[in-house]
Amino acid sequence: MCWLPVCVILLMELQVSSQERVEGFTRGKVILPCRYNVMPIEEVTIFWRYKDDRNVYNIVSGKADLTDQDRQFRDRTRMFPEEWANGNFSLLLTDLKDIDSGSYSCFIPTMNILRQVEFSVQE
Ligand SMILES: *[C@@H]1O[C@H](CO)[C@@H](O)[C@H](O)[C@H]1NC(C)=O
Repeated sequence: MCWLPVCVILLMELQVSSQERVEGFTRGKVILPCRYNVMPIEEVTIFWRYKDDRNVYNIVSGKADLTDQDRQFRDRTRMFPEEWANGNFSLLLTDLKDIDSGSYSCFIPTMNILRQVEFSVQE
């Protein structure tokens, strides 16, 4: 349980600062943005998730770890390690399909930062 006014303020901040909407087209590609501009993280750990718990991409201590990647995203994701030092943890998703629509999140556990992207695919 948290103190109500604090909860409300946290929720408002999440909505205002970290919800983005992105669109793509079937068979196309998209970059799902995740920017964090306070300071560069050396051994970064990042979890990209789809619909809260489906694994899209993990970076663990600075290395890509795709062992538990959800089958839906296999061979269709890429990240940009050269951008990580700039706080840019954007994800490239290729060969888009209708079923890719939905909410994606980029979570940086060591910083307790959550960015959300609402993605929709058009025909
Ligand atoms: C983050 O990196 C991607 C891939 O290089 C690039 O397309 C995108 O413009 C960058 N975003 C920002 C805000 O710099």
